[in-house]
Amino acid sequence: KPMRLWGGRFEGGPADALTRLSVSVQFDWRLAPYDLLASRAHARVLHQAGLLTAEELDRMIGALDDLDRACASGTFRPTVADEDVHTALERGLLERLGVLGGKLRAGRSRNDQVATDLRLYLRDHVRLIVSRLVELETALMAQAEEHAATAAPGMTHLQHAQPVSFGHQLLAHVHALARDADRLRDWDRRAAVSPLGAGALAGSSLPLDPQAVAEELGFTSAAQNSMDAVADRDFAAEFLFCAAMIGVHLSRLGEEVVLWASQEFRWIEMDDAYSTGSSIMPQKKNPDVAELARGKAGRLIGDLVSLLTTLKGLPLTYNRDLQEDKEPVFDAVDTLLLVLPAVSGLIATMRVNTARLESSAPDGFALATDLAELLVRRGVPFRDAHEAVGHLVVWCQVNDTTLERLTEEDLAKISPHFATAADTGPGGEPLPGPLDVLNVQGALASRKAHGGTAPDRVRDQLCALRETVDGQ
Ligand code: ARG
Repeated sequence: KPMRLWGGRFEGGPADALTRLSVSVQFDWRLAPYDLLASRAHARVLHQAGLLTAEELDRMIGALDDLDRACASGTFRPTVADEDVHTALERGLLERLGVLGGKLRAGRSRNDQVATDLRLYLRDHVRLIVSRLVELETALMAQAEEHAATAAPGMTHLQHAQPVSFGHQLLAHVHALARDADRLRDWDRRAAVSPLGAGALAGSSLPLDPQAVAEELGFTSAAQNSMDAVADRDFAAEFLFCAAMIGVHLSRLGEEVVLWASQEFRWIEMDDAYSTGSSIMPQKKNPDVAELARGKAGRLIGDLVSLLTTLKGLPLTYNRDLQEDKEPVFDAVDTLLLVLPAVSGLIATMRVNTARLESSAPDGFALATDLAELLVRRGVPFRDAHEAVGHLVVWCQVNDTTLERLTEEDLAKISPHFATAADTGPGGEPLPGPLDVLNVQGALASRKAHGGTAPDRVRDQLCALRETVDGQ
């Protein structure tokens, strides 16, 4: 006879089609350790309320401990006849305690139970996800440290724009991931509310102590409203947003790695351990890790949309639709725990082609802004400076040369603004000549205000980031 928690008022058994639709134990079984934690806390408040004797509490806790061990070792398993994790565990308890096992359910419903279990599970796993994020941040920072002064083509619209420190670019990804970790920490503050005590929806007539349960389970408080407690899945949706955002960040990093590893860029060489081959083309070395990181963002976004769609329009309080909250949450957790270590390994082991980055940094007339800004410091309105340098770029194209290869005579031909004599700026400070600003290292070093790409600023940024990341 299938194990059910609700048979009393039914004459016939459920149809097979209903059972198959209804059963969730195949995915909610992973909540078992959390359900058992919550059960122990519940047993203790039942005892405080005088509903279990000291001796009964002892036997109850002993049986729950034993069941926990049996679940962990796999000697106790859910069967196809168990509707959900709560049902399976009650069966395990009854097997161990007989009638006493039936006392634990007093004052509690699967509605407050499942909401509690999912919060406990997520708070635990979010901590793991944050440590995996920190590992990726650490890998990016190690590469950034090595390449703080490596000039690279900085891009907008995927076109060469201005040279940047490659370390600066890597740290841009770290900032995004640090915000993700911070968001998850902030998430935990709101997730740390215990639904237990809400019962089905209205609280319990039994003299239970939801605050004591909350405290025992590591929550900061018990829910203030029993109806909200069982209906609320904000914590799950918010987590899924955080997960989707991480997915999007990983996909943007992944896309960059795909580009960097291409023949056209040749910025990096991926380690063999983090690249794959082709079944037909012997020469291939493919960036599958980066592509899967990019691809997984789609399912993480899907998980978020899936839950929000389930929640939209649900009346209070518990509705069975809410059973659909778990698979997207579990999928997002599994996906992140799978992807993050792979991306960390890819980043930690990639070899950066410094020579290639530096030699291509000025390509595409990337130093044009430096020249225009020099003219501005000489008092030329930016509008005119922009125009003059634009003409210079066309002249270079027509004459098949680059800005760095220009001579004083070339410059004089284009515009009087480019007079090469050294000059002074608005404050009387000596200014470099146009030919002096046309070098990549100078261009990097000159961007030395807060947040700029000057290698010294990149090193400051790295120090500040290391402090934040250590705190995560
Ligand atoms: N398996 C259910 C879920 O995940 C547990 C709660 C069931 N509650 C109920 N009233 N049928 O939501």
